[in-house]
Amino acid sequence: MKALFINGSPRKNFNTVEALESAMKGAQAAGAETERINLYDLQYKGCMSCFACKLKISKTEGVCAIKDALRPVLEKCKEADILVLGSPIYYSSVTGMMRSFMERLMFPAGSYILDENGKPNNYFKNGKKTAMIYTMNVPEEALDAYNYPQILKANADCMKMVFGHCEELYICNTYQFKDYSKYDINMFKEEDKARHRKDHFPIDLQNAFALGKRLAEST
Ligand SMILES: Cc1cc2nc3c(=O)[nH]c(=O)nc-3n(C[C@H](O)[C@H](O)[C@H](O)COP(=O)(O)O)c2cc1C
Repeated sequence: MKALFINGSPRKNFNTVEALESAMKGAQAAGAETERINLYDLQYKGCMSCFACKLKISKTEGVCAIKDALRPVLEKCKEADILVLGSPIYYSSVTGMMRSFMERLMFPAGSYILDENGKPNNYFKNGKKTAMIYTMNVPEEALDAYNYPQILKANADCMKMVFGHCEELYICNTYQFKDYSKYDINMFKEEDKARHRKDHFPIDLQNAFALGKRLAEST
């Protein structure tokens, strides 16, 4: 059983990666072989709307036709049993690199041919389990005010449409800097952020672990 963890944060030792690492440990505990890929290490663009994946004579078989640094990752995604996408929230959405990755992952994998139930076919056809993990500054109690559950649900809905399954995990009120005293801020209080990091972040990491384990156990 193979589980891929896609890091959509430019930072490799902060909140999103910590959450992905916990989810990886959970998947490993349930017997999965795991790997993390850092999108910001790769040179690629989003979908170029070439429609090579939708041609009648297409040989892409669900993997984007563009030959760049993302293609080997997309091939691994096709083979993976579990796909966990982790991203910070940047202006109410996933990061640009994660968005571009998702276009290149989902569009070729999903088909324009409907099956007998009127649902689009999926070229991958292996009952993949997927999840989105989001980390963000907004505190949990303000999620609705920012409309995040509704906005972010669109990502999971698209993943579900293509792969048939997608869970979501929100990690709120993250600690953003190593040393708040160096930065010009009065929107957040370092003491509040530090308290949340100490009291709540370990629970977030436990939830990420449980998510990884659950996905692997159900595969
Ligand atoms: C460009 C940029 C935009 C951001 N926009 C938002 C936002 O709209 N909502 C939010 O809750 N946090 C926002 N944040 C905060 C990050 O989502 C948050 O700190 C996240 O946990 C960072 O992940 P990382 O520690 O893995 O890099 C933004 C951060 C950056 C750098």
